[in-house]
Parts: sequence; C-alpha cells; structure tokens
Amino acid sequence: MLSLPPLSLYVHLPWCVRKCPYCDFNSHEARGSLPFEAYVDALLADLDQDLPLAWGRTVHSVFFGGGTPSLFPADAIDRFLQQASARLRFAPGCEVTLETNPGTAEHGRFEDYRGAGVNRLSFGIQSFDDGCLRRLGRIHDAATADAAVRMAREAGFDNVNLDLMYALPGQDLAMALRDVERALALRPAHVSHYQLTLEPNTVFAARPPAGIPGHDDAWDMQAQCQALLADAGFAQYEVSAYAAPGRECAHNLNYWRFGDYLGVGAGAHGKLSLPGGHPAAGVDALDSNGGAILRRWKAKHPAAWLATAGTAAAIGGDEWLAPARRPFDYMLNALRLREGFSLAAYEARTGLARTSIESPLREAVGRGWLAVVGDRVTPTETGHAFNNDVVGLFLAD
Ligand SMILES: C[S@@+](CC[C@H](N)C(=O)[O-])C[C@H]1O[C@@H](n2cnc3c(N)ncnc32)[C@H](O)[C@@H]1O
Ligand code: SF4
Repeated sequence: MLSLPPLSLYVHLPWCVRKCPYCDFNSHEARGSLPFEAYVDALLADLDQDLPLAWGRTVHSVFFGGGTPSLFPADAIDRFLQQASARLRFAPGCEVTLETNPGTAEHGRFEDYRGAGVNRLSFGIQSFDDGCLRRLGRIHDAATADAAVRMAREAGFDNVNLDLMYALPGQDLAMALRDVERALALRPAHVSHYQLTLEPNTVFAARPPAGIPGHDDAWDMQAQCQALLADAGFAQYEVSAYAAPGRECAHNLNYWRFGDYLGVGAGAHGKLSLPGGHPAAGVDALDSNGGAILRRWKAKHPAAWLATAGTAAAIGGDEWLAPARRPFDYMLNALRLREGFSLAAYEARTGLARTSIESPLREAVGRGWLAVVGDRVTPTETGHAFNNDVVGLFLAD
C-alpha cells in the first residue's frame, strides 16, 4: 500500500556564464544582470502553489541545481531558505546542497552560503586537464578548480562533491586516472563520475569533437577509475556516484529510492505520493487502494516561468502515474543503486503488491541480472552493467 516516503525539495536556478557545448540541462547563458530577487519571489510563489500537495510534511533535503546556482548571491539563497522553512518543516540536519561552477567562485561567498544554511557543495570540475577543459568549453582551468575547492574548505565546508566526466575528447586512460587522483587529493566526501554523453540538441551532438574514446576505452576508464576510488575508500553506490562511508548524497538517494520531491523553478520536476488519492487523478491512475502518484513539471523557459510562477500557466504538465507504469518508473531509479531495493519498499513506494513484478523478476533472476535474498533484490555485476536491459523487463506491454 502506498505510503508517504521522505520528501525532498529541488530548486532550479537556470542561468550559466556560458552554455557548455555538451550540456542539455535547462541552462541558459546569462545576458546582462540577472533578476535574482524576482526569481526568488517567483520560487516562493511556485512553492506556495505546490504546498497543498505536501501539507504537513517534513523536508529531508534541499538541492539547488542548475544551471549554475553559484551565480546567485548568498542573500538570495538565504531569503529563499528562510521563507521555505517558514512554509515547510525542515528535518534536523537537513542536507542542503548548492551546485557550484568553480569559475564563479569568489572569496567570501562560501562563508555566506554556509551562513544561509547550505551545508553541502557540489562542484562541476569535469577534469583537471586544461586541454580537456578547453575542449569542453569550460570557463575555468584546473588551478581555478583547485583553488575554489580549497576556498570552500577554508569556509568550513566538509561535505563536498566533485563532478568529473570521463571519455572526454583527447583523453586516454592515464589522463582519466589522473583526474580522479587530483580529485581525491582535495579530500572530497563524494565524487560523481559521469561518462560524457552526446545529448541530442547540443553543439557536441551536431558537431561531435574529434578524439572521443571508443566504447572499450571508456569501459576501461570506468573500471579502473572505480578501482582507484574504491582503494581510496569511495564505494560506488550508484551508476555514477561514489561516497566516503556515510557521505552518500541524501537528496539523490531519495530520488533513487523513489522518494517524493517538490520541484520549484524553471523546468523543475516534482513527484508526489498521495495515498488518499486526489480529485484531479482519473480512476485509471489510482491503484487498488485509491492511491495516486503525481509527476509535475514547470514551464521550461526562465522568462516564461518567471512571468507566470504561481499560476496554472507555469505548470508545464501534470502526469498521474498509472499503476501499470509504476514498476518501470520504480526500477528506472532503484536499479541504479548497488543496494537494490526491498520488496517491502517496492510495495510502499508504488502502492502495488510484489506479485505485480513476479514475472519480470523471475526473468531477470533467470538471466543472472538480479539476485533475490529474502526480501531484498540486488543487481548482480552483469545486471549493474546492463542496467537498461534489466529495467526494460519491467515495462508494461
Ligand atoms: C548541472 S551540472 C553541475 C553544475 C554546474 N552547472 C557546472 O557545470 O559546473 C551537473 C553535472 O552533470 C554533468 N554533465 C552535464 N552534461 C553532461 C553530459 N553530456 N555527459 C555527462 N555528464 C554531463 C557534469 O559533470 C555536470 O557537472
Ligand atoms: S555550467 Fe553546468 S549547467 Fe551550465 S551549461 Fe555548463 S554543464 Fe550545463
């Protein structure tokens, strides 16, 4: 039976100094001065509109994502957090992450973010090789990245994530390993290690750069970087996420465990469980106990969202997740995790009985992709490597 999972809050801040040629995030080059105050007002109006879907619930994590949230001054972040916590209870120790582009780091700003309540920083480093950074169109070099992370540490941030990408144009295995070594030397709590993908509608997709490593080379980079991270005590707990013990990202873990989240800001996505159903959900969207799951997203373009936040026009769409669709959506998230999931959690998060996945589960176990021990289902090494194929088994016909 559907029950209320932990609730997170995602805040999208959509501007960047420059658009990177590989990036398909909802991020836009800043032209002229940015309307920080108006944007925070709009975020609060957006939150107010969603609040009836989450009355009385406690927020367990907040994530300022982008775009480049570190373009926002600390007082804007401070005002948003203060006002948001007057509307929703924040759990003690609530993780509050802010994504940071090293090229926007300024001395003094990190102290102010800390003062505002941010307790985790996520740096978009990508590489420590200046040639790679140039080819990626980044606005910073390796020395700037190094200095930014050190500045954050001096400001008292001990919970720091570093984003790295691998399989970069012109990169070989030794370079990929060097990037991980340089990252580890900065003593982060968490490393995200993403394979560069050519996303549709990006400059790189239209004109792929020369020298992108092939499939086998990328595979070697992943495996050997993973081993290097493991030696340093960073366990892979998700496809691209590595953490020191106890330093997993609570916010992302909640996504992968099919928790709930409010999403405010241009193009932000939210997902909410409503065990008692909702008048707007059609009967086909309800499970056998009358529970509903809503996916909601906001108008994507910053100017359009800003002009309409808090009104129906700012809702990009609402999708009520029909029971037939829930197993696939659940697996898309849970099977990214090394820990897998428990059948009890599956039932609580989807509102469906475990019998609803009996057949694909049997098939996945038969193929050696998943292991079931008691109540727990975990991906095997093969299942982890062929995640897409495993998840595909759970698609409704
Ligand atoms: C929203 S960005 C992080 C913060 C900030 N915007 C920055 O880039 O410095 C999230 C991360 O996704 C990763 N990423 C973005 N586009 C990617 C792509 N095409 N392939 C792989 N990883 C990508 C990058 O590591 C990036 O740091
Ligand atoms: S700075 Fe980050 S969000 Fe902005 S364009 Fe580059 S990768 Fe995308």
